[in-house]
Amino acid sequence: MFQKEVYVKRRADLKKLMNKGVALFLGNVDSPMNYPDNIFHFRQDSSFLYFFGIEHPGMAAIIDFESGEEFIYGNDVDIEDIIWMGVQPKLTDKAAKIGMENTAPFNKVIDKVEQVIAQGRKVHFLPPYRGESKIILGDMFGINPSRINNYRSLELVKAIIKLRSVKDKYEIAEIEKACAVGYDMHVTAMRMAVAGESEQKIAGIVESIPLQYGGHYSFPVILSQNGQTLHNHDHSGTLQEGRMVLTDCGAETLMRYASDFTRSYPVGGKFTQKQKEIYQIVLDANNAGTAASKPGVTYQQVHLLAAKVITQGLKDLGLMKGDVDAAVKAGAHAMFFPHGLGHMMGLDVHDMEDYDQIYVGYDDEVRPIDQFGTAYLRLGRKLESDFVITNEPGIYFIPSLIDKWKAEKINNDFINFDKVNQYRDFGGIRLEDDLLVTDDGCRLLGDRIPITIEEIENTVGK
Ligand code: GLY
Ligand code: MN
Repeated sequence: MFQKEVYVKRRADLKKLMNKGVALFLGNVDSPMNYPDNIFHFRQDSSFLYFFGIEHPGMAAIIDFESGEEFIYGNDVDIEDIIWMGVQPKLTDKAAKIGMENTAPFNKVIDKVEQVIAQGRKVHFLPPYRGESKIILGDMFGINPSRINNYRSLELVKAIIKLRSVKDKYEIAEIEKACAVGYDMHVTAMRMAVAGESEQKIAGIVESIPLQYGGHYSFPVILSQNGQTLHNHDHSGTLQEGRMVLTDCGAETLMRYASDFTRSYPVGGKFTQKQKEIYQIVLDANNAGTAASKPGVTYQQVHLLAAKVITQGLKDLGLMKGDVDAAVKAGAHAMFFPHGLGHMMGLDVHDMEDYDQIYVGYDDEVRPIDQFGTAYLRLGRKLESDFVITNEPGIYFIPSLIDKWKAEKINNDFINFDKVNQYRDFGGIRLEDDLLVTDDGCRLLGDRIPITIEEIENTVGK
């Protein structure tokens, strides 16, 4: 946990942004794997962690924006729990660590909610993303759980996005720790990537690394020679000479801050000429993205810049043709780069996307571009100092997409389909770094995982 002042300040900052009513925060509960006592690894809700820091199932909290009062709800363990779990800190002790005094058993939160409603005041809550939370909230408010998200407070969502988008020095230090573990995960995978090795074995070892540090992976590892499938969790392949491996993974620290990196490399470490050429374009796009990211620039502009670097590179190789700006405007690059350049990162690997990504990534000034590929850009708005973001351009050869565009003559003026056909079995390349936006630019978080062609050749299989 952070020092209690951190949590006190966060709640005070929220009170400054909200005037009326109360906010109800619901922590997560244990989630059974296959029978009630056999549970998944517990993950506290990120909003609850942000304001209350307590990593324990079955809790709730209320902040009253009118009186300024704060209440925390949860149950102390009884003797039967102690037999199985050992003695646990009392709720009052946990509350003291985050600068709170008003504690009560969990079921008292329902009385409090009813009292606020009876006073004709609003109970603001965030949109729940887990079935259990939907049921608890649905029950409290007498709303069908399947429709509870319609009643979330957009005012609260926007206020919290404002706070959580800007990372403080404690959060940045924590994210750096996640990056250090992410480094270890990737370099381990690189060293193992020789012909004959199984994807599953590498993925399993990589996933075990953050667990050894007491944390967790920030999302299930993506690792495959079929990197053209953007989120490929199928690890059934055996590494073969001549193929590329794409690994996208990161760690979550004990405090639940995330890292998220992607590297792509040839099995055995030696690039073919064809691989080298495509790789260098993605690396140039990644470097251009880092160079262009600074306060005041929209990430939509940075995304389009990366798209131009990719288009220019593919044109130089004869895979694309025509005017680069016109090709990007038409969305022709998206056959090769059909996703966004990046997203916010923090307590969640896609930070705050439980609130609805549109409010995290866009605002009244910058709206999403409704075009295949670019529409997937999760973060488009203006960058600000202390945003933590990912920069992850890629080039993929997706046979089904190539065939569809060729058959339908989509962007025929900008793509040399005959030449593209020679790359059908290439796979995909994505290169992802984590960036901290600074006052006049940005900096990479963590030591940079080997990324140049020379660094890759000196690390993979070594
Ligand atoms: N690294 C997974 C993602 O950004 O979607
Ligand atoms: Mn990412």
